Amino acid sequence: MNIKLNLLLLYVLFLLLNCCFGRFLVEKNSLKITSPKSLKGTYECAIGNFGVPQYGGTLVGSVVYPNVNQNGCKNFTDVNASFQSKPGSFPTFLLVDRGDCYFTLKAWNAQNGGAAAILVADDKEETLITMDTPEEGHVANDDYIEKISIPSALISKTLGDRIKEALSNGEMVHINLDWREALPHPDDRVEYELWTNSNDECGPKCDNQINFVKSFKGAAQQLEKKGFTQFTPHYITWFCPREFLLSKQCKSQCINHGRYCAPDPEQDFNKGYDGKDVVVQNLRQVCFFKVANESGRPWQWWDYVTDFSIRCPMKEKKYTEECSDQVIKSLGVDLKKIKDCVGDPLADVDNPVLKAEQDAQIGKESRGDVTILPTLVINNRQYRGKLSRPAVLKAICSGFQETTEPSICLTPGHHLANSLISNSDMETNECLENNGGCWQEKSSNITACRDTFRGRVCECPIVKNVKFVGDGYTHCEASGALSCEFNNGGCWKVSHGGRLYSACHDDYRKGCECPSGFKGDGVLSCEDIDECKEKSACQCPDCKCKNTFGSYECKCNSGLLYSRENDTCIGKYTSSSVASIWMIIVVLVVTLSGGYAFYKYRIQRYMDTEIRAIMAQYMPLDNQPLIIPNNQVHHDI
Ligand SMILES: *[C@@H]1O[C@H](CO)[C@@H](O)[C@H](O)[C@H]1NC(C)=O
Ligand SMILES: *[C@@H]1O[C@H](CO)[C@@H](O)[C@H](O)[C@H]1NC(C)=O
Ligand SMILES: *[C@@H]1O[C@H](CO)[C@@H](O)[C@H](O)[C@H]1NC(C)=O
Ligand SMILES: *[C@@H]1O[C@H](CO)[C@@H](O)[C@H](O)[C@H]1NC(C)=O
Ligand SMILES: *[C@@H]1O[C@H](CO)[C@@H](O)[C@H](O)[C@H]1NC(C)=O
Repeated sequence: MNIKLNLLLLYVLFLLLNCCFGRFLVEKNSLKITSPKSLKGTYECAIGNFGVPQYGGTLVGSVVYPNVNQNGCKNFTDVNASFQSKPGSFPTFLLVDRGDCYFTLKAWNAQNGGAAAILVADDKEETLITMDTPEEGHVANDDYIEKISIPSALISKTLGDRIKEALSNGEMVHINLDWREALPHPDDRVEYELWTNSNDECGPKCDNQINFVKSFKGAAQQLEKKGFTQFTPHYITWFCPREFLLSKQCKSQCINHGRYCAPDPEQDFNKGYDGKDVVVQNLRQVCFFKVANESGRPWQWWDYVTDFSIRCPMKEKKYTEECSDQVIKSLGVDLKKIKDCVGDPLADVDNPVLKAEQDAQIGKESRGDVTILPTLVINNRQYRGKLSRPAVLKAICSGFQETTEPSICLTPGHHLANSLISNSDMETNECLENNGGCWQEKSSNITACRDTFRGRVCECPIVKNVKFVGDGYTHCEASGALSCEFNNGGCWKVSHGGRLYSACHDDYRKGCECPSGFKGDGVLSCEDIDECKEKSACQCPDCKCKNTFGSYECKCNSGLLYSRENDTCIGKYTSSSVASIWMIIVVLVVTLSGGYAFYKYRIQRYMDTEIRAIMAQYMPLDNQPLIIPNNQVHHDI
């Protein structure tokens, strides 16, 4: 009941807006038939709001109208048909009839059948409409919509019939789809707008929108910084008709007394966030842009919006003012100015910023009313096609006057899904300033900021095999194996007298442990143990104890030495060493005296014989038997 009322109300507002002020412009491009002669000419077609239109380019192909499955609602794999063009021949443009299923399903089947583009022939005479994706929840399995990459075009019933007739007569129909004039490209700067919403709980459409903002951020910021583009974000709001002002619907969905409303995220007024929470956050995002733009840094909007969606999701109940304030502060933008801009949502007054947004919603000149969310407007024309980085970049590039495109547009393959921006004129490092608003460990220069082609991201790093976990903005912590190299593994350390004392062990399983001579938890503190006071050492009688940092000194009396190992005093020499010295001395003495004795003996012997021999020549030696060597006796005297 509530939901129905709610939707009905919005629908009424919607109709009011549409009927009374605005119009919805169908974005068209031209379709040129080059053959047969009877059909030659330029016709209008309407670009579908999915797939990838070839903005700035042309595509030439040959039309095929299938014999069966003519509305394209079944896949073309079970019928004997492949539209894959043969080498050297024209790509196939598959012509199907409108009706029986969603446009997107027809396009998906055509793409899988190998067609290069799909033409849908209207089933009644009318002005062309924009083929859009199905409303949320209308198809069970709509993952495929994101995968549609071929361009699509709706043609009139008349043109469709004439093409079919030519084909049935056996003629080849050649068509040139031309997107070169689909967007105006008057000068060297592209102005573009994104009509978006801060609501992150609306399913695939919201996910797709924020994923686009995240992936396009890098390119958007660089184009903006170099002055190639001027970007403005916009937010749609509705107003509550006077007679409903006091209704529950308006109270929960609107701010400023029913002036600015947004649908309830869960479509239930009794739970979760209300429509008015979404309006306030939308307002903050517009104000953020305004303040950042005034300080000459409009590109910060992309950071705010992506950071907010990461840090403050509805799912985690963080879609709040406090969380938003934190993001703003981390980006270094003046919070007070933003609060002034937001004003008081309860006041019964106009908010100039939201008033301007409502005025901008109504189409002017070449741009129709904005009624589809999200909507991208490039050079005042609504972009049609898939909201993806390569497709949008291609469209923006086609909005520059020829030869004034930035080099990012000229890089071959810039249309490839994962192409990087590698041009030197595109390089900037956002982490250099204020660390990109990311977490940082000041003492060791470890940061969660990384500059990527998607712009800067805040992600906890991996340093020296230590993985950090956290939100990347306000905290990151080393997880798993501790490393003493980072922050000393979270353990205590101190430098004293030129020496480092640390409680960190390279073996992380030990955790933090005070080094010997200290006591404590090893994390916050380790205290020097006073070994002397605690009587844990130097307990020998007459020992003198002195505490030092991390250790102690102990002196023994009477020339004894202190043995730290056994905490006792010992003599200068141990008994064993004294004994061994004595042994050496004895051996030395024995050897020396032995040698001397031998020497003496030899001398004695020599003296004895020699002298006796000489003396014996002059006198008889009575007391000893005369020994006279034979050879020394002189017989001739
Ligand atoms: C095509 O449709 C048939 C049944 O209609 C189905 O069995 C088959 O899986 C489909 N093929 C693809 C590629 O979707
Ligand atoms: C399918 O195509 C083959 C040749 O490509 C042809 O021989 C066959 O008859 C076709 N089948 C049908 C049912 O059309
Ligand atoms: C942003 O700033 C530029 C130049 O300072 C100005 O021309 C433009 O109108 C501003 N945009 C908004 C939405 O205030
Ligand atoms: C941190 O980075 C700054 C600037 O790059 C540098 O001057 C400083 O020495 C670095 N500090 C450490 C601990 O690496
Ligand atoms: C210390 O004590 C151990 C055993 O208690 C002993 O083996 C060692 O020789 C002693 N050391 C000294 C220097 O006395």
